[in-house]
This record gives sequence, structure tokens and C-alpha cells, in this order.
Amino acid sequence: MDEQGGVRRKASDVRIMMNFSVKNHDMPKLKIFVGTVYGGSLDVAEQVAPLFEQAGYEVAIFDQPTLNDLIESPTDLALFCTSSTGSGDFPGNLVAFVRDLQAKSPGLAGLRYGLIALGDSSYVDSYCGAGRHLDELLQEQGAQRLGERLEIDAMETFMADDEALPWVDEWIESQQLKVA
Ligand SMILES: Cc1cc2nc3c(=O)[nH]c(=O)nc-3n(C[C@H](O)[C@H](O)[C@H](O)COP(=O)(O)O)c2cc1C
Repeated sequence: MDEQGGVRRKASDVRIMMNFSVKNHDMPKLKIFVGTVYGGSLDVAEQVAPLFEQAGYEVAIFDQPTLNDLIESPTDLALFCTSSTGSGDFPGNLVAFVRDLQAKSPGLAGLRYGLIALGDSSYVDSYCGAGRHLDELLQEQGAQRLGERLEIDAMETFMADDEALPWVDEWIESQQLKVA
């Protein structure tokens, strides 16, 4: 105890407290919502996550996303990363999220997001159908897409990361998303 009855702290204690506070309270949250059948979109999410961490975000990846993951805790920035299946259909792991988004219509004004759609242009009429549809649904709820959607064509790009990594780098830069 010091003269005023307070607890005397060593400089090292203060440093530890500050680090704790920065990591858990002050860092903005970036959430990545994944729709995938074969794992390609999840791989993209995992590869780009460190770029956001370097830019100052606390990153969470949701590979079984629910609407609550988006709306029940702060989301400073979101990235949606989904492939298409069937004829432009949502991958199974994203179906509950989309169903709830349509049924509950939560209103997403204030949400800023980016979107990466994986597809295959040999599915001519339904190329990147799920990513495009999700983009529409988010905007109907008032969410704001930052920049253009990235569409990665499996006919052109063997490893989706090769396109996703530079795109995310550029997205962070051009949208001035860096916070650290
Ligand atoms: C059965 C099947 C259906 C597909 N349907 C579409 C489609 O309608 N539109 C599209 O752009 N790509 C379609 N694709 C291609 C996948 O979306 C693409 O290969 C993607 O990279 C897979 O990513 P994932 O590993 O995250 O699921 C389909 C692939 C399969 C195997």
C-alpha cells in the first residue's frame, strides 16, 4: 500500500496490464465467415488472416457460421469467403447463416464487409452464384461492401490463395483499414 492507501504497482505490472488491455478490449474485431464444400474457401480464410492481424485486428474465423456470430458481439469488419455448389447454391455449412439472414432480417446498417467468391466459370450461368447472392442479401440488410467483390475462377487459378493474398493486401491498403 502507498501513502494514499492505493496499491503500489511496479513498472513491469503496468506493462503487463497494458498488453492485456490492448489485446482484449482495444483491438478491432475482424470476423471471417466461410462457406466451403471442399475446404478451398477455408484455406483462403486461414491464409489471409495473418494479414489482418498484422494490420491490427483480432481475427476470428467461422467455418460453421451462424447469424449470431455476426450480430451478437461487436464486428468492426467482416470478410465473407464462399464457394458455390450445385447451380450457384450455398455450401451446406453456410445454409443456416443465409436462412437466418433472410428469415430474421436483422438489419446490418453499419456493417462494413468484403467478399471473396470462389467459383468455376465453366458453370456459366451460375458462376460465383453463392457469393453474388450473399452480396445482395447483405446489401439488402444495409451492410456496406468496401471495394469490389473478388471472384476467383478455378478455371484460371489453381491455388485460390495466389489471388486472395495480394487482393487482401491491396484491399487493406486501398480501403485504409490498417489500425496498427
Ligand atoms: C458439384 C459442384 C458444383 C459446383 N457449382 C458451381 C457453381 O454453380 N458455380 C460456380 O461458380 N462454381 C461451382 N463449382 C465450383 C466450386 O465453387 C469451386 O471449385 C470452388 O473453388 C470450390 O471451393 P471450396 O473448396 O471452398 O468448396 C462447383 C463445384 C462442384 C464440385
